[in-house]
Amino acid sequence: MKGIILAGGLGTRLSPLTRITNKHLLPVYDKPMIFYPIQTLVNAGIKDIMLVVGGNNAGDFLRLLGNGKDFGLQHINYAYQKGEGGIADALSLAEHFSEGEKVLVMLGDNLIGGNIKSSVAEFEKSKKGAKIILKEVPDPENYGVPVFKNGRITGIIEKPKKPASNYAVIGIYMFDNEVFKIIGKLKPSERGELEITDVNNMYLKKGRLSHSILDGWWADAGSSIEGWFETNKTVALYGANKMG
Ligand code: DAU
Repeated sequence: MKGIILAGGLGTRLSPLTRITNKHLLPVYDKPMIFYPIQTLVNAGIKDIMLVVGGNNAGDFLRLLGNGKDFGLQHINYAYQKGEGGIADALSLAEHFSEGEKVLVMLGDNLIGGNIKSSVAEFEKSKKGAKIILKEVPDPENYGVPVFKNGRITGIIEKPKKPASNYAVIGIYMFDNEVFKIIGKLKPSERGELEITDVNNMYLKKGRLSHSILDGWWADAGSSIEGWFETNKTVALYGANKMG
């Protein structure tokens, strides 16, 4: 299974912090933000990783990460996303890299307290489909939100005004290689982006979307200044990417 971390986009919601650098290079407690998702993938046993970068500071990722020695890697692959076409658009740039394999995709601004080893191992056993991870949150309206009927997900709504549940779809997704064909069929949303939520809803329609619930804390460090600040405090207090 290949790993893909999406760190494109312009990060305007964290302006002016992001005026001269990329959001994913900002510090979260004692490390640059991008260190955390890389460590999450490495802890899940994924060694073949592509980073999709974008914006004006793409070269800084190379200077910071090089070939991934800090994470025990021998190599990191890079792709460049022009503009801000959405999460699914950024993912489409990794098609060649995926070489027909399943992919574990993580958003570059998402951090977790624990690990996702068991979810990933379960997905690796399955033949086809996609898997998402959910976390109960106090502010579901800021995320992709699942709608449940009799314990099953019947739809996912992106940033609903009136959320149908208290769960967020976190920015860690597992897909079979069909995902690239699905992205090819997407139309841009109202905000002009190819949405990962539309991809997940397409798997759901085919009856091929499973889910698990995350243990431990989850944070989206990139959606607001408050969220970024809170994430710094959470990492300082509890630590991130614990294996136990
Ligand atoms: O954090 C989880 C949430 O992430 C999910 O619950 C939502 O369903 C999902 O749409 C996403 O929502 P956001 O509005 O928070 O996504 P954002 O635009 O902040 O992008 C998240 C990361 O994705 C960002 O750190 C870099 C990457 N990205 C984003 C865009 C728009 C790209 O690589 N390229 C892009 O064009």
